[in-house]
Amino acid sequence: VGYDQTYRPQFHFTSLKHWLNDPNGMVFLDGEYHLFFQHNPVLNAWGNMTWGHAVSKDMVHWKQLPHAILPYGEGTIFSGTAVVDHNNSLGVQQGDTKTLAAAFTFARHPFYQALAYSTDRGRTFQLWNDGKPIVANQGYDAGERDPKIFWHEATKKWVMVLWVKQAKPGRVLFFNSDDLKTWKEVSQFDRDWVFECMDLVQLPVDGDPNNKKWVLYDASFEYEVGEFDGKELTTDKVVHRGDYGPNFYAAQTFNNSPDNRTVIIGWMRGENTPFRRADMPFHQQMSVPQTMQLRTTPGGMELFRWPVVEIESLYEEGIKLAKTDITTASEKLSDFRAELIDFSVAFEASADTELRIDLRGQTITYSEGAIHYQNHQVPAPTVDGVVKLRVLVDRASLELFTNEGQYVATFNADIDPQNTTVALKSSGKVTVRSLEVHRLKSSW
Ligand code: FRU
Repeated sequence: VGYDQTYRPQFHFTSLKHWLNDPNGMVFLDGEYHLFFQHNPVLNAWGNMTWGHAVSKDMVHWKQLPHAILPYGEGTIFSGTAVVDHNNSLGVQQGDTKTLAAAFTFARHPFYQALAYSTDRGRTFQLWNDGKPIVANQGYDAGERDPKIFWHEATKKWVMVLWVKQAKPGRVLFFNSDDLKTWKEVSQFDRDWVFECMDLVQLPVDGDPNNKKWVLYDASFEYEVGEFDGKELTTDKVVHRGDYGPNFYAAQTFNNSPDNRTVIIGWMRGENTPFRRADMPFHQQMSVPQTMQLRTTPGGMELFRWPVVEIESLYEEGIKLAKTDITTASEKLSDFRAELIDFSVAFEASADTELRIDLRGQTITYSEGAIHYQNHQVPAPTVDGVVKLRVLVDRASLELFTNEGQYVATFNADIDPQNTTVALKSSGKVTVRSLEVHRLKSSW
């Protein structure tokens, strides 16, 4: 099949063949990032859920490997997460190679949580205890799924975060374990907004390693910020919206990430792609990997996301402009052609500023403090008189980042493959503080 079809994303992960949905088991071990994913091995539609598998040294260039965890008995393998069993809790370690342990939902009514492990750096997996429950069904039938597991250093316990379905408020269960095999419920967290694929991560505030907070988010990427003592989560109860586009879902972060980074990937869920119409051999794509930070803003503490710096290894020719006016900027862009684009602009904005940016025929406008694209509004705050926007364009997507990642909007897009132009327009006078556009090469 290969990766060179007209609409095959070139720096966003897709399965070589067939359907994918949620990222699963994201973990770093011995120089490799592992991305597992919800996969239908035989169709371009959801079903037969299996954990597909890919590895990368830089989160940009991926190599798909044989499927990792296959359906067994009468059930399929739903979403979950993986950890490096650094202290050999499971007791199955071979030599110096740390065991990878993957917790997943076994999808056969009533659902339960089970475990698989790998002693060969993820190349093959065995079911723990023949795939029997590590957490038995808690009484919510199919509405208990997507276990997030991680090591809590302060209490030296393994923690599991599990969403369970009930009438409002929704519920998250927290469990502790010493050995990854037996789990004990330690608290419940009830909120209206929680739904599927819960993740809980600890992040420094404003880059200060001595001031960390915990962020709980769900599949639709709403989140709350608070404190977690290994058993209980307490928050300020402010619910934030984490993405302003229609296509960011079921995200998770790499466990055991090096460099103190917390990197997230989401499934770009949605049918607003050319994949099915154009009969591509695959269906659905992942977002670009993004580093997460908590920053103090006038509106409180907020999550910022920014494409991983490794993306820059794909840069080819580009244009960089210092302070100029809109007419000069658009003239300088007139000969530039690119299919894969990393575009950044900072411009001076006042109440009546209007700006139009055309990236390969996709029209993005700025007015009244927001970026408008595909009938969605993304807040674009003016800081010191300047609005900042970054846009990544692949063959079937646009990802928008305003104010250095304070607001992010993720979109699938149906882009004319022939259109490779970039243009800026405004009916009024706009001063461009800086502009940078790069053509990217394919990661495949
Ligand atoms: C989220 C989800 C998960 C489930 C998986 C099944 O998209 O519904 O809750 O584990 O997909 O593919």
